[in-house]
Amino acid sequence: MTPLSFSMLRILSDGRFHSGEDIAKRLGVSRSSVWNAAQSIEDTGIDLSRVKGRGYRLEKRIEWLDPAKMPASCAFDVEILDMIDSTNSELLRRNGPHGKVIAAELQTMGRGRMGRSWLGEPGGSLTFSLAWKFDRGAGFLSGLSLAVGIALARAMTDCGIEGIRLKWPNDVLYNFHKLAGILIEVKGDMLGPTLAVIGIGINFSLSEKTKQHIDQAVIGLSSMPTNPGRNRLFFAVLARLSDVLTQFEKSGFAPFKEEWSRLNAYDMKPVKVKLPSGKIEEGSVAGVSDRGEILIDSDQGRIAFASGEVSLRGIS
Ligand code: ATP
Ligand code: BTN
Repeated sequence: MTPLSFSMLRILSDGRFHSGEDIAKRLGVSRSSVWNAAQSIEDTGIDLSRVKGRGYRLEKRIEWLDPAKMPASCAFDVEILDMIDSTNSELLRRNGPHGKVIAAELQTMGRGRMGRSWLGEPGGSLTFSLAWKFDRGAGFLSGLSLAVGIALARAMTDCGIEGIRLKWPNDVLYNFHKLAGILIEVKGDMLGPTLAVIGIGINFSLSEKTKQHIDQAVIGLSSMPTNPGRNRLFFAVLARLSDVLTQFEKSGFAPFKEEWSRLNAYDMKPVKVKLPSGKIEEGSVAGVSDRGEILIDSDQGRIAFASGEVSLRGIS
């Protein structure tokens, strides 16, 4: 996507037909530049109809992120970009600062855990990161991704979305389909302070083309019973994050343990845990510890796993 493609997308986001000639005139470019911009829009996975004699039309309207919709109570310094490699990478490059939020309409290299990628499309997902500086060392942050999951679940509930569950350590699920993911990256000295960059990706609608590249069951809010829209959910999440992080800063994960366990999609369920060595442990989930470790009852008794490089999968 180029700046021109974004300008074209903004013209088309009313969901009506616009002729190539009209778009070219409005943007002060040639018809062939409009044609190229249309190609690059389609390359992101967006469905664009082209009808002879009528022009271009978006199959799905886009609700752009809008700073004017930010409530006055928002505790953060919010910046909205059209495009960036990854909002996490950008905040890491800029070293925060504390309280800075960067959201992007499109990430070209969105990241998940362990070098995996996070995919999205303009208007089809909400992708943003928040920088939060803790006075303590990184060891104190164990359980932070679980607490952020609680902020997401609370915000979704505030917006009328029901049935949200969490999957340890960093996923939000609906009917066992992945709706959102959290990626926390830290920078700092052993004893602190620590800059935590908290990245969140929430799906609204993903095209079939994008879904083909995702190797697990996914879902977006536009196919769920309640879709609050991107702006409403964005600002609801920021409000809940502000409360959750303030409490986490004082007392760590322990005060969130009960709430997390109630939201746990795999509570008491049989699971496999894949360790960094490739070894797999099987057992049933027995909640989480005060530090946010997952507790598994296995043949060898109860084992606690920290999130590090461990992955959890349900056994059906
Ligand atoms: P883990 O339990 O280890 O966290 P995970 O499969 O959820 O496992 P993550 O690193 O958390 O892995 O997330 C990255 C994965 O998420 C990708 O490998 C891909 O399967 C999936 N993915 C990528 N984009 C999306 C998206 N927009 N929505 C849902 N899932 C996605
Ligand atoms: C996961 O499930 O592994 C976490 C996905 C996190 C994706 C978000 S989107 C905003 C931020 N920027 C990134 O590159 N990743 C996170």
